[in-house]
Amino acid sequence: MANVGGGFAPATLPRDVYEQWKGRVMAEAVRIYEVGPRDGLQNEPGVIPVASKIALIDLLARSGLRDIEVGSFVSPKWVPQMADTDAVLAGMAAARDVSFAVLVPNMRGWEAFAAARRPDVRYEVAVFISASEGFSQSNLNCSVAESVARLAPVVAAALDADVPVRGYVSCVTNCPFDGPIAPDQVASAVARLQEIAPMQVSLGDTIGKGTPARVAAMLEAVKDAVPATQLAGHFHDTGGQALANIEVALDHGVRIFDSAVGGLGGCPYAPGAPGNVATEAVLELMARRGFETGVDRDVIAQAAEMARGMR
Ligand code: HMG
Ligand code: MG
Repeated sequence: MANVGGGFAPATLPRDVYEQWKGRVMAEAVRIYEVGPRDGLQNEPGVIPVASKIALIDLLARSGLRDIEVGSFVSPKWVPQMADTDAVLAGMAAARDVSFAVLVPNMRGWEAFAAARRPDVRYEVAVFISASEGFSQSNLNCSVAESVARLAPVVAAALDADVPVRGYVSCVTNCPFDGPIAPDQVASAVARLQEIAPMQVSLGDTIGKGTPARVAAMLEAVKDAVPATQLAGHFHDTGGQALANIEVALDHGVRIFDSAVGGLGGCPYAPGAPGNVATEAVLELMARRGFETGVDRDVIAQAAEMARGMR
């Protein structure tokens, strides 16, 4: 008799048993990219002590997550909540299997990161542009072309220092200032980042107005510029559509999703950007759809409680 759990040739198994067998031994992996300590806490109105941020990051690092965004080296006048990122980097525990990401908008930010980084920690630098001019002006005080020119030397410096780089494109369906964004505009923004260097690009539905149909159209256009394996989905949940949008992205071959524990988050320069989709909700969806994440949902539940307590 065939051993369903063991990997014998399944040709003689009934279809439903075969599907179950296939699901068990060949569950596809999805990578959850935790952005709560950055995209979540950057938007909290109160001051969150460094020790609380570190406690959250250290707990998340014990959950099986492989990527955690821990802060940003942006202007403290623009985002005061992230002004202590150097202290966070100094105090957090190193974790062998985790890469810790920081947002860097310009060379000034790169230099601050370079001074704060530790030799015992694995980092990633995230650079960010917008698909729309309105949000670029609001968030970075410059045009899209200027932001690309500013981040090119950051990417070069990071790669030279063996620090991997990730890119974000914001406003992939709607901009709070310019309205609906055409899929081709998003594809051009993604291509602009790839011209600097090949990198993973996270597609930000910054104000969470994307619908499954709009996300599908956007992904069709973007996939002409970059393979789906190099893309991540970054959905804010204003319209309650984030999980449906993630499912559409899964159907388009995307296997990396950003989320924030406890549904923390938003962007202070995007009116109407509420919480990111909650990590615990994405984990539940992935379990239901039969994808492996390697993340311990009990630890994430504890972290979600800790995150909610910071509000
Ligand atoms: P600016 O005012 O045009 O810059 O801001 P500047 O070059 O004229 O400098 C002004 C002052 O800021 C100077 O100081 C600089 O030294 C200082 P002063 O002489 O006045 O004392 N400065 C810096 N200080 C620390 N770190 C730096 C830095 N750069 C300049 N790196 C700037 C331009 C880019 C700095 C500003 O617009 C900024 O910091 N923007 C960041 C806004 C931000 O962090 N937004 C949230 C993250 S993006 C997001 O959430 C979206 C995402 O989640 C995806 C999605 O959802 O779509 C990623
Ligand atoms: Mg965001």
